[in-house]
Amino acid sequence: MGKVLLFGARGQVGQVLHQVLSPHAEVTAVGRSELDLLHPEKIRQLIATERPEVVVNAAAYTAVDKAETDVEAAYAINATAPKIMAEAVQELGATLIHISTDYVLKGDKGLPYLVQDVPEPLSVYGQSKLAGEQGVQQSCDRNIILRTAWVYGVHGKGNFVKTMLRLGNERPEVRVVADQVGTPTWAQHIAEAVTHLVQASEDASDDFYGIYHFTNSGVCSWYDFAIAIFEEAYRLALISQKPNVIPITTAEYPVPAKRPSYSVLDNSKIRLLLQDHPPHWREALRKMLKTLKVRS
Ligand SMILES: NC(=O)c1ccc[n+]([C@@H]2O[C@H](COP(=O)([O-])OP(=O)(O)OC[C@H]3O[C@@H](n4cnc5c(N)ncnc54)[C@H](OP(=O)(O)O)[C@@H]3O)[C@@H](O)[C@H]2O)c1
Repeated sequence: MGKVLLFGARGQVGQVLHQVLSPHAEVTAVGRSELDLLHPEKIRQLIATERPEVVVNAAAYTAVDKAETDVEAAYAINATAPKIMAEAVQELGATLIHISTDYVLKGDKGLPYLVQDVPEPLSVYGQSKLAGEQGVQQSCDRNIILRTAWVYGVHGKGNFVKTMLRLGNERPEVRVVADQVGTPTWAQHIAEAVTHLVQASEDASDDFYGIYHFTNSGVCSWYDFAIAIFEEAYRLALISQKPNVIPITTAEYPVPAKRPSYSVLDNSKIRLLLQDHPPHWREALRKMLKTLKVRS
């Protein structure tokens, strides 16, 4: 692999992606402190100077509820910045791999979403991410949009797994939404999938580009996920007791942004590339918790 420029280097996906990609490519990784994506000119300049073969965008405005009122900032990071990247990548004839989300989908299909299903986001975050996908598609021929979902990892500021571990150590009882269904996905496995895409982009034909879905395998609700986290964490002595988990409805836990109630992604397109099923979400969770245990 040649030169890769990675945006979002200090996010939960970006950090592990930097680690996984580094043995395979010459990676320049930039976070907010090196380049604030609110400055389009700097994005253009960096891509033109670095002249990478592949740009990977793992940066995003990910505060889903805050985005409902912080609309301008969400669009600047999730829509304008990726479009600028796409234009600069097109100038070089390079490839752009842009990470997107299940939140571009409405979540009422009841069957796993295919890459060709029409997106219909329910939230400002989802709308801004969809605008990002469209900007990338319009501005760059060699684009890959990798949609993933329910991401958790060892790195980064916080995620559902880390929140549950904290609550599990603090409370005897935790209330968790049981009527939203999806697939928890370990950032490590996203990083490995992106690395495959970078490798495959080296001598790719036109039909390689486009939208891919990648999550771990399997399906669960947030409630099921919480139960699994507590069982696995207890087994590893990451928590001293398993709290009682109470299933609640979305209506009982009001938040500003509407979420898709069913956002399972069909992985079949990326399965062809990986030549395997992504690991099951529970197996991935177990491995992530073991990694946390080793680091604690
Ligand atoms: N988290 C999920 O559950 C989930 C689900 C589906 C899809 N995704 C997608 O997966 C990708 C990676 O998400 P993640 O979970 O790794 O999110 P994350 O941990 O919030 O990482 C996003 C990164 O973007 C950076 N960023 C935000 N605004 C910036 C700006 N103005 N200039 C430069 N950098 C900026 C952040 O920098 P700071 O660290 O300085 O804030 C952060 O490091 C995103 O495209 C997201 O939409 C995430």
